[in-house]
Amino acid sequence: MLRPDFLFGAATASYQIEGAATADGRHPSIWDTFCRVPGAVHNADNGDVACDHFHRWQSDLQLISDLGFDGYRFSVSWSRVMTVDGQRNEKGLDFYKRLLDDLERRGLKSFLTLYHWDLPQHLQDRGGWLNRDTATRFAEYADLMSREFAGRVSAWTTLNEPYCSAYLGHTTGRHAPGLKDVRYGVESMHHLLLGHGLATEAVRANDKAPVGLVANVCAMVPASDSPKDRRAAQLSYANANTWILDPLLLGTYPEELSELWPGVKAPVKPGDMATIATRMDYLGINYYFRSNIRSDGAHGYVEEDLPNVERTQMGWEVYPDGLRDLLLDFKHRYPGLPPIYITENGMASDDKPVAGRVADEQRLRYLNSHVAAVDQAMRQGVDVRGYFAWSLLDNFEWSYGYEKRFGLVHVDYDTQVRTPKDSALALKRFLDQRRG
Ligand code: FCB
Repeated sequence: MLRPDFLFGAATASYQIEGAATADGRHPSIWDTFCRVPGAVHNADNGDVACDHFHRWQSDLQLISDLGFDGYRFSVSWSRVMTVDGQRNEKGLDFYKRLLDDLERRGLKSFLTLYHWDLPQHLQDRGGWLNRDTATRFAEYADLMSREFAGRVSAWTTLNEPYCSAYLGHTTGRHAPGLKDVRYGVESMHHLLLGHGLATEAVRANDKAPVGLVANVCAMVPASDSPKDRRAAQLSYANANTWILDPLLLGTYPEELSELWPGVKAPVKPGDMATIATRMDYLGINYYFRSNIRSDGAHGYVEEDLPNVERTQMGWEVYPDGLRDLLLDFKHRYPGLPPIYITENGMASDDKPVAGRVADEQRLRYLNSHVAAVDQAMRQGVDVRGYFAWSLLDNFEWSYGYEKRFGLVHVDYDTQVRTPKDSALALKRFLDQRRG
């Protein structure tokens, strides 16, 4: 059974919930810009209002307490707390100070993410993550945050899911800034990871709380037993998982990358890999689904839907064993694997309140089976310290807009009324019982 000090939390991210896009001197991020690109985001949705959390943060924190959670994972909007000329924005800082103080008052652990994909647009205008200098700017931002918030944060996260920033943002163009070049993906990944290393050092100089990074990981299955499909699954595993985890935990990029992207090399300078591999106090793992991988006949791969499996509103396969298996893989691959927090796990469904109730049975089954998978990994020796459900609220799901609902709590975007779904109420009963 999960230890009594195992932490249960709920997670969100600034651009997905805050809204108040121009309040108190906040300037645009790359997501504000990307949302204006025709066709980039479903329904041309944007984060201008989102869940209006910026104005409703107190009742949202009350909700977290009411639902019985031990902790809250959220991110800071860089564009809110620093001006375009790199100075502190007092009003923006105050917003997060109030939030952190209130979390402490409620006895909730605060997991603060510095970067959940919303790079200030003015830095993008100077090349963004393709410019090595952005890693330095990120460390300066981390330095300011950790001086301002020292003593108030339970755990720091440098980056959320660098895979998505680099690959979806620079290789496939599905995310901001919408670039599409394999070379850009590889270069931006290197600068993101370098920024992580530099930011880790900056935070450590100012605060004692643990510092880590959050990586999304994906389970893979080859579409057949053929050597080509098996190799394709290995390549896609490298693309999704070890491209990020190897440099952080082994100080090298995996060799599969040169087969995946021949001739494309990360812009590594002397000392970079040691900076990137700076010891992390914990590793955050986000897990959602498994992919079925077929060879494309060359050195690449394609994803194919497996027939007859359970899926979510995103079309993602429900496969809890994948989470257990990945945790066990990582334990074997990385001798220095730090303690793990599951920093995101959850699913989207097309939820609608009926007479004040949202019946989301699939989500409850999903959460139960994935927590059970974490428990199995722990019994086999993986050190997992906590689990955060994604997400506290229905919110702006990036290029999918508001249609996909990941919340434990339903949000009516016309009225901003919050309705805890059945899954949240069941979780609350479990957490209350656990507390005794
Ligand atoms: C993760 C993101 C998070 C949310 C979930 C569904 O990749 O970190 O913001 O969009 O997926």
